[in-house]
Amino acid sequence: MEIQAVVAVARTGAVGRDGQVPWEYPEDFRQYKERVRGTPVVVGRSTFEMMDPIDDSENFVLTSDTTRTADHERVTFVNSRREAVERAAATGADTLSVIGGGGVYRTFLPFTDRAFVSELPEHLEGDADFPYLGAGWRVAERHSYDRFTLVEWVNEEPKPHSEL
Ligand SMILES: NC(=O)c1ccc[n+]([C@@H]2O[C@H](COP(=O)([O-])OP(=O)(O)OC[C@H]3O[C@@H](n4cnc5c(N)ncnc54)[C@H](OP(=O)(O)O)[C@@H]3O)[C@@H](O)[C@H]2O)c1
Repeated sequence: MEIQAVVAVARTGAVGRDGQVPWEYPEDFRQYKERVRGTPVVVGRSTFEMMDPIDDSENFVLTSDTTRTADHERVTFVNSRREAVERAAATGADTLSVIGGGGVYRTFLPFTDRAFVSELPEHLEGDADFPYLGAGWRVAERHSYDRFTLVEWVNEEPKPHSEL
């Protein structure tokens, strides 16, 4: 199963502030929805608190709290990267989407095969970020949108899932 990260980033590297994404790019939101459609998603507990579950995906919410249970049939709380990946693989999916936030992007990054990074013309100083993908990553494609560019990165050497 391939792991893809889908993220929108300001010029500063910020992805959010005070638990929110403080911008609106409807075209980016549409491409993001389209890209994750039907794939299981893994999301951090903080981000999950601020969003509705994605209805046409299995939502795996990463938390260290082993007592959390969900009352939505497509939401499962998981306690490790490995559990998230194993449960996503058990759905039969060929792609798992990592949808943030900052902590979850970071913890999955070494295992992420592909990253779709929307580079937004914003100068936000945030409290959650996404790293610039340099050594070990190459740009596969650039997609131009009216107000931003989406860069598709490929990890040249992702860590094997046995090391999750
Ligand atoms: N621009 C974008 O594309 C985008 C996308 C999504 C989110 N965001 C933004 O990102 C910000 C939130 O990011 P964040 O870094 O503060 O929080 P986050 O990544 O959403 O969630 C962090 C939480 O996830 C859990 N977690 C992370 N790694 C774990 C691990 N290895 N094992 C168990 N649990 C783990 C912990 O939950 P517990 O504390 O419960 O243990 C941790 O506190 C918000 O501003 C949000 O709006 C931006």
